[in-house]
Amino acid sequence: MAPVTDTMDETTGGVARGGKAAGGASHADLLRRALATMPGGVSSPVRAFGAVEGDPPFVARGQGARVWDSDGREYVDLVGSWGPLILGHAHPAVLDAVRGALGDGLTFGATCAAEVELAERILARFPFADKVRFTSSGTEATMGAVRLARGATGRSRIVKFEGCYHGHHDALLVKGGSGLATFGTPSSAGVPAEFTALTEVLPLDDEEAATRLFEEKGDEIALVAIEPMPANAGLLVQRQAFLQHLRDLCTEHGALLLFDEVISGFRVAPGGMTERTGITPDLVAVGKIVGGGMPVGAFLGPADLMDRLAPLGPVYHAGTLSGNPIAMAAGRATLDVLEQPGTYERLELLGARLQSGWERALADAGVAGSVARVGSVLWMCLQDGPTPRAFHLVREEGAALYGKLHGAVLEAGAWMAPSAYEVAFVSTAHDEALVDRAVDAFAAGLAAVTSGAGAP
Ligand SMILES: Cc1ncc(COP(=O)(O)O)c(C=O)c1O
Repeated sequence: MAPVTDTMDETTGGVARGGKAAGGASHADLLRRALATMPGGVSSPVRAFGAVEGDPPFVARGQGARVWDSDGREYVDLVGSWGPLILGHAHPAVLDAVRGALGDGLTFGATCAAEVELAERILARFPFADKVRFTSSGTEATMGAVRLARGATGRSRIVKFEGCYHGHHDALLVKGGSGLATFGTPSSAGVPAEFTALTEVLPLDDEEAATRLFEEKGDEIALVAIEPMPANAGLLVQRQAFLQHLRDLCTEHGALLLFDEVISGFRVAPGGMTERTGITPDLVAVGKIVGGGMPVGAFLGPADLMDRLAPLGPVYHAGTLSGNPIAMAAGRATLDVLEQPGTYERLELLGARLQSGWERALADAGVAGSVARVGSVLWMCLQDGPTPRAFHLVREEGAALYGKLHGAVLEAGAWMAPSAYEVAFVSTAHDEALVDRAVDAFAAGLAAVTSGAGAP
C-alpha cells in the first residue's frame, strides 16, 4: 500500500496519523462487519471490488482531489464519488453553503428558496427547457422522464441503447452499463419480462438499426433515452451524426428524445452534451454534480411537456425529500463555483494531461490500449485497435487485465474505479502534480502487473 503520509491534520481529519480511523476499527474489522450487515458489504454493487483483485478500502475522508482510507493511506482520487465531485472533496464554498443551510433545519416538505435558485441556475444552462422537477437521484430523474414521455405521448414503447445505464428502475434496466456491465449480468433478475417487453434495445453508433426500428414501430415509441456521452460501459463517444439521426427520427415519428446527462450535465460544458452538440432534446435528466455531493437528480424540459406533471397535469411524480434544502444549497454553490471563468478550460487541460500520461504509460509498458476522453471524463480502454463506440465492441480481455491492474495502481497511490467499464473523473481540485502522481501510480501498477508481480 502507499505510504501513510503526515498530511492529515489531527485537528481536521478523522484519521489518526500513522494508522487507524478515529474510533480504532481496523480495516479487517470494518470489512468483516460490513460483510455481515450489508449484502456484499456495500450499498451499491461496484463498490465491492468484485471485478478487481483485493478488498475495498474504507474511505475515511476526502479533501480536494485526495482521499484517505481508514488506515490513513492517501490516494489521488480519480473516481470523485462517481462523478458529482467536479470541485473535489469538501470544497469550501459548498461546505459553507451546507453549513449555512443546516442551521435552518434539514427538511421541510415544502418549497424553499434554494430550490427556486437551483432551478433557475439549471434552466439558465439548458435554455431549451422552461421547467425542472427535482428528485433525490439520477434513477428517479430518468424514471420520471419515462413516465412523463409515456403520459404526454399516449404511447408505451421506449428505446434505450446497449451499454447505457440510466439508473436501476425496471423500464430502463435492460442491457445496461455500470454494475450490469461490470458483473456481466446485462439485465437484472427481478425485472419481469412483461415489464421490459415495451423496452427496445438498440446498438449505439448504428443509424440503420435505429431507422429500421422506427420504420417498424415508430408510431408506438414514446421515448428514446440515451446517454449522449455514454459513460457507463467505458466511454463510448458517439458521432454527432448519430445523435442528430436520433433527433430527426424522433421528430419525424412524434417520439420524445431524452438526453440522460446525469454524468455529462455540468461536466463537459455548463449545459452538458446538449450544449456541446447543439442538438435539442425534448427532456434532459441530470444528477450527480447538480447536488454537489448531496442526493439530487432532476429532469427538465419545455413548459408544455413539464406542465403535464402533477399537480398541473395527470402524470404523477412526487418525493418526500425532493428539493431538500441542504442538497439544494450544495447544488447551487457547486453551479456557482463552476461559473468562474476558465473552469472548463482548466478541466480540459488536466484531462488532456491525464490522457497523455496514461497513453505514454501504456506505450512504455508495451500494453495494448487507448484512452477515450471528453473533457474531464476519461476511459482506459485495454484492447488494441480503435477505441470502440458501441458496447458489443468492448472486449472482455480488457476487463481481465484491468482486474489485476487495479489493485497494483491502488497500492501505488491512485484510486481508480474498481471496474474496467467505469470512467475516471478529473476535478478542479486536481492540479498538474496530482495528475502526474496518478499517472506515476498507473505506470507503477502496469510495471507490477506486466513483470508478473501482480496486485496484492
Ligand atoms: C447516466 C446515468 N444515468 C442515471 C444514473 C443513476 O443515477 P443514481 O445513481 O443517482 O440513481 C447514473 C448513475 O451512475 C448514470 O451514470
